[in-house]
Amino acid sequence: MIRVAAVGDVHLGADARGRLRPALEHLPDRADVLVLAGDLTRHGTAEEAAIVAREFGDLGLPVLAVLGNHDHHADAVAEVTRVLRDEGGIRVLEGDGVVLPVNGLRLGVAGVKGFGGGFEGRCASAFGEPEMKAFVGHTLDIADTLRAALAALDCDVRIALTHYAPVPDTLHGEPPEIYPFLGAYQLGEAVDATGTDLALHGHAHLGCEHGVTPGGVRVRNVAQPVIRAAYTVYQLGPDGPPHGDGERQETGAGLTGGGGPRGGEERP
Ligand SMILES: [Fe+2]
Ligand SMILES: [Fe+2]
Repeated sequence: MIRVAAVGDVHLGADARGRLRPALEHLPDRADVLVLAGDLTRHGTAEEAAIVAREFGDLGLPVLAVLGNHDHHADAVAEVTRVLRDEGGIRVLEGDGVVLPVNGLRLGVAGVKGFGGGFEGRCASAFGEPEMKAFVGHTLDIADTLRAALAALDCDVRIALTHYAPVPDTLHGEPPEIYPFLGAYQLGEAVDATGTDLALHGHAHLGCEHGVTPGGVRVRNVAQPVIRAAYTVYQLGPDGPPHGDGERQETGAGLTGGGGPRGGEERP
């Protein structure tokens, strides 16, 4: 089996050094890989990225990540990505993927940030003003990119990693009015089209952990305010979880909360 530790939306600010690290030290004993589902920083500065790199770097297991909308806020994505890589050894995925050998299996993870747009029956469409076409066009481009990246993985177990949600199931608890800003159904279509085994996302701080795509792929919202722990671990094999839905085996102890601010101009 493959043990995948996951968390998103840790929203580390410049004052957060050491906040998560104590709960992560024993992670290599509990998981084979750690994936981070975006909103790693509060405002997307290189200074905050350096804090993320210190918290999640050099843990003794591979760390893969996507960025979230907060990580884009300072228009410093290239610098944030570089700091995470160079100072923390964290591989940021955006339209690409990686295949890791784990316990005799090949684990493939492909990631994109994703974007909003909403879900079937209540979604935006590329019609009318150029701003609306640009908004939805961005969603479509990202979903196509995710589909291609997932399909390109030559692996035994395939994971889709996004910040925005691919299904509405894991948004329950959020105000319905903001669902279109929390995810897009086209991401779920990409998951369903590619033989994906598990889809992990964040962004929806008030959502819930468990969901499923229309095609039956398990979806998990790992936003830290949702899982209420430093991370959670999912066990996966070529035939799915070990038994039923009992895949969530362990949870990093010693931390609650840590989610980012809500209200004002800041969205999840
Ligand atoms: Fe977010
Ligand atoms: Fe967030």
